[in-house]
Amino acid sequence: MSSIADLKTQFTADLAGVATEADLKALRDQYLGRKGGAVAGLMKALAAVPPDQRPALGQQINELKQRIEIALDERLAALTSTRRPAGAVDVTLPGRGPAVGRLHPLTQLRSRIEAIFARQGYEILDGPETEDDWHNFEALNMPAEHPARDMQDTLYLTEAWDRPARPVGAVRGGGASAPPGNARPATLLRTHTSALQIRYMESHEPPVRVIAPGRVYRRDNLDLTHTPMFQQVEGLVVGQGVTMADLKGTIVGFLRELFAPDIPVVFRPSFFPYTEPSADVFIGCQRCKGAGCSMCKHTGFIEVLGCGMVHPAVFEAVGYDAISVTGFAFGVGIERLALLMHGVEDIRLFYENDLRFLEQFPL
Ligand code: DAH
Repeated sequence: MSSIADLKTQFTADLAGVATEADLKALRDQYLGRKGGAVAGLMKALAAVPPDQRPALGQQINELKQRIEIALDERLAALTSTRRPAGAVDVTLPGRGPAVGRLHPLTQLRSRIEAIFARQGYEILDGPETEDDWHNFEALNMPAEHPARDMQDTLYLTEAWDRPARPVGAVRGGGASAPPGNARPATLLRTHTSALQIRYMESHEPPVRVIAPGRVYRRDNLDLTHTPMFQQVEGLVVGQGVTMADLKGTIVGFLRELFAPDIPVVFRPSFFPYTEPSADVFIGCQRCKGAGCSMCKHTGFIEVLGCGMVHPAVFEAVGYDAISVTGFAFGVGIERLALLMHGVEDIRLFYENDLRFLEQFPL
């Protein structure tokens, strides 16, 4: 009698723990299995009971067996009623949002730079990435054999002996008589966006107020700070009475808008063949706030761009009157600004297209 009651209690507890159809099947075998099942065990034990008690106990065991069967069937019905037909949508799952694309961090920065200058009335230029010697070097006051050509390692598209040593009309002071730039064959990948200064001035009269963002190429090996292709933004302003004060005001205003309104900006004399005077521009190191760290090589300042007053030889090359107009120019590397702005230490990250990196730059 007590074994029957115990089994009932045990079964109720076991049934409550059933979560899957497999659990249920195991439970059925455990209680109703022909061999080794708990109910079959009770039946066997009946043999040891005095004969006069057997019918009553036997009936109780049968009742228990029926109850267990009913309970198992009900549980099975409950489990299978929540099962979805194959291929059906589970409407209780949370939704999956569409993956939203975003602009590459360098594109974001370029757009910001363009917006800053566009607001001041600058025109935004585009130009060819393959260039000729005239636009990339010669007209920028770097004639053949000029040592300043070694400041940048050039990727040539034609062998040296195929290139015209001196393009027609590229004589210093040749001025307006120089043939239009587009007539020259491309011989190299532009090493700087400064080439666009020449292209623009050849086809437009002053006043000039332009920026030219674009890709440039150099024979550099990949490392933390170099990629053979990177991006620059060139700036050029030409007109009557344009002075170095205009250059300084423009550059300081630009850098403060880009980084921080109170960031220190320092101009240091430098050399570029196409500007005189020339300057390198530094901003206060954002990481150590000027105290000195590994990033600024313990100087408190980091170089961000090159600039200067347009050299008269450049005006002459494009046929401008170098007496009546003056101008300033600057060139800035977009990757370099991005590295500083975001505290990224490896320029290659910008070109590896690893989403784990790129997703850190939401618009
Ligand atoms: N072309 C220079 C470079 O690639 C940057 C530069 C310096 C551009 C001075 C300029 C300039 O227009 O005036 O490093």
